[in-house]
Amino acid sequence: MTINGNSEYWESAEYLHLLSIPMWEQLSGRLADTLTDVDPTAGTVVEFGPGTGLSTDVLLDTLSPAPILAAEPSAALRAVLLARVSSRPDSARFTVLPVGAAELPLPSTIAAVVGMHMIGHLSPDQRRVLFSDLMPRLAPGAPVVFNVQPPDTAVEVPSWPPFGTTVGRLRYEGTGRAVPTGPDAVRWTMSYRTLDGDTEIASATADYQWWIVSAEQLAGELRDAGAANVRIDEDMVIAHAGGAQADR
Ligand SMILES: C[S@@+](CC[C@H](N)C(=O)[O-])C[C@H]1O[C@@H](n2cnc3c(N)ncnc32)[C@H](O)[C@@H]1O
Repeated sequence: MTINGNSEYWESAEYLHLLSIPMWEQLSGRLADTLTDVDPTAGTVVEFGPGTGLSTDVLLDTLSPAPILAAEPSAALRAVLLARVSSRPDSARFTVLPVGAAELPLPSTIAAVVGMHMIGHLSPDQRRVLFSDLMPRLAPGAPVVFNVQPPDTAVEVPSWPPFGTTVGRLRYEGTGRAVPTGPDAVRWTMSYRTLDGDTEIASATADYQWWIVSAEQLAGELRDAGAANVRIDEDMVIAHAGGAQADR
């Protein structure tokens, strides 16, 4: 098991949770909808890259009494995640290991797999190995849910107007831009700042490699790994193992 305490998210940890909250107001319901057929007594729910736990909240809220096993390599994000989950009455159901997806010891029977906004951290080889390791462990009908993010080809992405949120008297803002680093990869540079009125009092920059994968390509890879039924809902790719719920 690799203990991976630092990561590309070290510099952005202060900002990531705050700036992700608005996105999850809509996404929580969409993720919950993909999990309605899960049998929460069928096995363990596996989550890759929970970050600060906005996705984990959905899993804990909707899949009781299933245990959840997560792989989160960033120590900074794990600190926020653990602080948030440990304040819940059902925290005993949640275990997070300090590893990446490729290093997570997979449970023998899996009730559902979720990885939100993280698939670009896995290389094509890592995805191929992971998907073929997951498929035979899925309980009948268990879903595998990932989402993809633009761009879906390796092109330059210009920075967008900063978006942000206010806590107390301070405003927290972020923007990002990407440049191609190969035929199927870009390097994101995310820039953040903290404003007290018009005065910038702190800033941070985070760089990370991101493997490009479109929803169609991801769906094809899951089929190649043995998924019985795969559908695409905008940015989300939902695959099912074979079994009673596979054809729904
Ligand atoms: C953009 S954040 C998304 C966090 C959360 N899932 C959400 O949607 O709000 C990407 C997450 O993937 C994690 N990550 C990076 N490399 C990873 C890997 N190899 N395996 C699993 N997670 C990884 C990061 O540490 C971070 O928590």
